[in-house]
Amino acid sequence: MVVDFGAQYAQLIARRVREARVYSEIVPHTMPAAEILARNPKAIILSGGPSSVYADDAPSIDRALFEAGVPVLGLCYGFQLMAQALGGTVDNTGSREYGRTDLSIAKRGSTLFEGTPGEQQVWMSHGDACSAAPEGFTVTASTATVPVAAFENDKRKLYGVQHHPEVMHSTHGQQVLEHFLYRGAGLAPSWTTTSIVDEQVAAIREQVGSKRAICGLSGGVDSAVAAALVQKAIGTQLTCVYVDHGLMRKGETEQVEKDFVAATGVQLKVVDAADRFLDALAGVSDPEQKRKIIGREFIRVFEQAQAELVAEAGAAGEDVAFLVQGTLYPDVVESGGGSGTANIKSHHNVGGLPEDLEFELVEPLRKLFKDEVRMVGQELGLPDEIVQRQPFPGPGLGIRIVGAVDRERLDLLREADAIAREELTAAGLDRDIWQCPVVLLADVRSVGVQGDGRTYGHPVVLRPVSSEDAMTADWSRLPYDVLSRISTRITNEVRDVNRVVLDITSKPPGTIEWE
Ligand code: XMP
Repeated sequence: MVVDFGAQYAQLIARRVREARVYSEIVPHTMPAAEILARNPKAIILSGGPSSVYADDAPSIDRALFEAGVPVLGLCYGFQLMAQALGGTVDNTGSREYGRTDLSIAKRGSTLFEGTPGEQQVWMSHGDACSAAPEGFTVTASTATVPVAAFENDKRKLYGVQHHPEVMHSTHGQQVLEHFLYRGAGLAPSWTTTSIVDEQVAAIREQVGSKRAICGLSGGVDSAVAAALVQKAIGTQLTCVYVDHGLMRKGETEQVEKDFVAATGVQLKVVDAADRFLDALAGVSDPEQKRKIIGREFIRVFEQAQAELVAEAGAAGEDVAFLVQGTLYPDVVESGGGSGTANIKSHHNVGGLPEDLEFELVEPLRKLFKDEVRMVGQELGLPDEIVQRQPFPGPGLGIRIVGAVDRERLDLLREADAIAREELTAAGLDRDIWQCPVVLLADVRSVGVQGDGRTYGHPVVLRPVSSEDAMTADWSRLPYDVLSRISTRITNEVRDVNRVVLDITSKPPGTIEWE
C-alpha cells in the first residue's frame, strides 16, 4: 500500500511496485492508520510530499503504522516523517538538494542496497534533512550534505531512504524497491497478467450473472481491452456499440469492425451518425463549442442505441443491467484526490456518459495503469494495432481542424494524417513517439507553386510528441529524412495542401492537441 503524502510521485511508486510484480494500491495520507491496517497490507510505502515536517499544515503520521509489524519503507518526506516519529532528528539545515545527487552506501550490509554499487546516482528533492537516525536503526547511506540519507531496522522491518528510488534518474532505484518488497517484506513476484485476467474474469462473471451488458467502443485501447475482458467472461451476454461520428481517421472504423470482432468474436452494433455530427458542427470554429457539441451528440446517439438494445433484449425476456467502462486506475486515484485543477479542455470520452444512468457499471480496468492494460490486451490476443495504439482524442479529427469542420476538410486531413502515420510506421517510430497529431489550418491559406502554377492552399501541422503520461510532453526530434518524406508526400498527394509545418512546442506551454 502506497500512502500518498501529496507528491506527484505516488502513482509512479505504485507502478514501480507493480513492475516488480507485486500488486499495489494508493491511499491518501488522511486515511486513519487503523483503516490502513484494517486493509491488511503486506507492506507499506510512505511517499514523498511537498511539505517540510516543520510546516504548520504538515501531514503527520500515526506511530501505530510502525508498531503493527507491517514492513514500512519511507521515501523522501515519508523518510523524514518516519525519522521524526521514531525518535530520530530532522533538521531544517538550509542545505537543499535537488536533482541528481551522488549517494554513498555504507560498508556494512544493507537489505535495501545489497548488490548495488558503493557510489550511485540518485534523484533528490528535499529541504529538511535527517541528522540522526532513530535508536536501533543503522545508517546505510549518506551524501555530501546529508549524513543520514538512508536507514534501516531489519528486525522491525522498517526502512527509509531520503531519495526517490521510483524515478528513473535513480540508477538503482528499482533494485532498492525490489529489495524492500522481496527481502524486507518477504513478498513474491506473483502479480502477473495471467493472474489479472483470471481474477477479473471471475469477478465479472460474479457481478453480471446471467444478465446482459453493453459496452461503448471508441477504437481506443481502454474500451477495447475492457470489452475483450468482459467478452471473455460473459461471451454473448455482451453487446458493444461503436458510434461512428464521421471524425475518425482513415481505416479506423473498419479496424474496429474487422480486427476487433475477429480477435474477440464480440457482438458489435455500429451506428453511422456522421450526418448528425456534421450537421451539429456546421459553421462552428470555437474549440470548446466543438468539444461540447461532439460530447452532447455522442451521448444522444449512444443512449438511443442503448435504448434499442434494451428494447430488443426486453422483447426476448432478458435484462440489460450493466454498462462496461474502461476506467483506469489513475482516474480512480485522481477523482478520489479531488484537488481542484483548472479545466484546460473539456475532455470527451466514451466514458462521459449521462449522470442519470440506470445501469450498474462494470469497470474491469479500474485497478490498472495504462501499460498494464496493454499487457492484458496482449494476453487476451488483441492485435498489436489495437493494443499498441497511440492515444487519439474522443472528438477525433473534429478538434484537429482549426476552423469549421466539414466533409471536404475532413477528407483532406484524413489523407494527410494517413500519410504521416504510414511513414512513421514505416520508419519504425511508432513506439518512440507518444502520438503525432496532424492538424489542418483550415482558415489559413498561403501561396505556393506546384506543377509550375501558383497555388493558394492550406498548411498542415505535424505535432509529434514524446511523453510518459500526456500531462507534460516534449516535441519529438524526428529524423529529417522522415519529416522530408512526409512533407513531400502530403504536398504531392493531398489536394489543396501546399505547406507542411512542424510544431516544436513542448507542453506546457502548448497542449498536445491544437484545440
Ligand atoms: P492535450 O491536448 O490536453 O492532450 O495536451 C492530452 C492527451 O489527451 C488526448 N485528448 C483527449 N482524449 N478525449 C480523449 O479521450 C478528449 O477530449 C481529448 N482531448 C485530448 C490527447 O490526444 C493527448 O493524448
